[in-house]
Amino acid sequence: MSGQTIGQVLEDDHHRIDRHFAAFAASLAGDGAVAEDELAAGITALKHHIWVEEELHFPPLRAAGLMGPIMVMLKEHGELWDLLDRLEAQVAEAAAVAEISATWQVAAALLEAHNAKEEQILYPSGDQVLDTDTAADIQDCLVNETTPEGWVAQMAGRTAG
Ligand SMILES: [Fe+2]
Ligand SMILES: [Fe+2]
Repeated sequence: MSGQTIGQVLEDDHHRIDRHFAAFAASLAGDGAVAEDELAAGITALKHHIWVEEELHFPPLRAAGLMGPIMVMLKEHGELWDLLDRLEAQVAEAAAVAEISATWQVAAALLEAHNAKEEQILYPSGDQVLDTDTAADIQDCLVNETTPEGWVAQMAGRTAG
């Protein structure tokens, strides 16, 4: 991974997460069982990604003056978090595929727009601001650390369930 900026590392992580969700979405469209393992892997990976952003990546950017864009990202993380929890619950209680798909469509559209904004605006700005130590820490935690038990996105739980 050497030679990559943190923006590129985080963008690669978006793609890794997307592959799990794509497999889950394909199962919703097919005749077979819902790919619960792919959904679970996608949820775990995205929640960890959000943890890294909110705890490690965003604070130095906020300190550098990028408050507005970060507020938008935090709000979207909260909405995504709630949608992931709803999806998990729907799959666990074996809800109708149409219901699960409806929730997924909302989450997928939000995630796609969210990631595009990060990749086009926030990550390039971040790459100008982050020092080498912080960048190394972010990359390390993204790959090696697990999300602390009980941690939730700062703005989770604000959208109606
Ligand atoms: Fe994000
Ligand atoms: Fe991200």
